Amino acid sequence: MTKKIAVLPGDGIGPEVMAEAIKVLDAAQKKFGFSLEYEWADVGGIAIDNHGHALPESTLALCEASDAILFGSVGGPKWESLPPEQQPERAALLPLRKHFDLFCNLRPAKVFPSLAAACPLRPDIVGDGFDILVVRELTSGIYFGQPKGREGSGPDEKAFDTMVYKRSEIERIARMAFEAARVRGKKVTSVDKANVLTTMVLWREVVTGVAADYPDVELGHIYVDNATMQLVRWPQQFDVLLCGNMFGDIISDEAAMLTGSMGMLASASLNADKFGLFEPAGGSAPDIAGQGVANPIAQILSAGMMLRYGLGLEEAAEAIESAVSATLEKNIMTADIAPDRDKSVGTAAMGDAIVAALEEA
Ligand code: NAD
Ligand code: IPM
Ligand code: MN
Repeated sequence: MTKKIAVLPGDGIGPEVMAEAIKVLDAAQKKFGFSLEYEWADVGGIAIDNHGHALPESTLALCEASDAILFGSVGGPKWESLPPEQQPERAALLPLRKHFDLFCNLRPAKVFPSLAAACPLRPDIVGDGFDILVVRELTSGIYFGQPKGREGSGPDEKAFDTMVYKRSEIERIARMAFEAARVRGKKVTSVDKANVLTTMVLWREVVTGVAADYPDVELGHIYVDNATMQLVRWPQQFDVLLCGNMFGDIISDEAAMLTGSMGMLASASLNADKFGLFEPAGGSAPDIAGQGVANPIAQILSAGMMLRYGLGLEEAAEAIESAVSATLEKNIMTADIAPDRDKSVGTAAMGDAIVAALEEA
């Protein structure tokens, strides 16, 4: 059966890394005998330029008619002077997440053994690596709470965002974290700020309640400031990190860098029906866009997550991860992760090497 994929490369390095993910998906289809039909559409800044809106109706309609969304990244300096609510991040990415109720964002941060040197932590701290899954609530919290706005003028002018969490919203993301932990290290650490924020008092209460249904999983609570510190002090202590929207955003960038680069962290954003949008955790990287040097691995692993979580093609997903690992073991690396930048490869060569590793396996 053919699955339809909405391919939305977006801005900056998005199209560059997307091209590599598609190559890898093509190779996976041949090897495992499944069939994908891609349909490409504009999203983000490019959609503003071409259609006058960051999320054109036609793009949303395509997503609705598809089995999964493969997303690159959006935003960049060209659109930063637009009114905030028209900018790519707020006018395309957040509405897409909300529209499809993609509340569950999975961001796996694992050090590939061959990338131990790219991890900024001392070798005695990294040890033989760590394997963390950030489970981030993605459709509520301070990103979406109302009221949100600005009013007044002069010294009294103010701006405000509101952090709101409903019991049901906390409960459903907590369940996802416990379910994930059950088939991993059996440990959930819930990240909050219950010593200051009332929303986080409820967060801690609800998570503790959900834990009663998972006696096989250990639950710990940690304040977010301590969590960011513990991540660089002793990352192995964590298995699943359960976070609200904003803390998960921050923690996942930190976790990404601990694996070697922002260009390594894939993500899946899922709803209750397991429909998903799959995208790298990093952004459009304007500082390196157009140079052919971006690391395509986060996009390729996001395509792998799409096969696993969106389409139920576990064997192909695992094969993609093994192909990435095998390629890194051959010391084929982009500039962000290579020990010697002069010996690094570009985006397309990295993608080609992963395709070759997949075909060889
Ligand atoms: P960024 O993640 O784009 O870049 C941060 C740093 O990481 C840069 O030095 C960049 O070169 C590096 N980096 C990121 N991905 C890389 C890759 N694949 N290979 C090598 N290096 C990589 O974050 P930023 O600079 O804060 O944001 C740039 C733009 O992207 C902004 O407009 C921001 O809003 C947007 N953004 C979009 C998404 C998304 O679409 N999902 C996510 C984050 C940021
Ligand atoms: C991410 C990004 C987005 C977020 C932005 C671009 C809206 O940083 O996916 O981590 O904050 O969720
Ligand atoms: Mn982010």
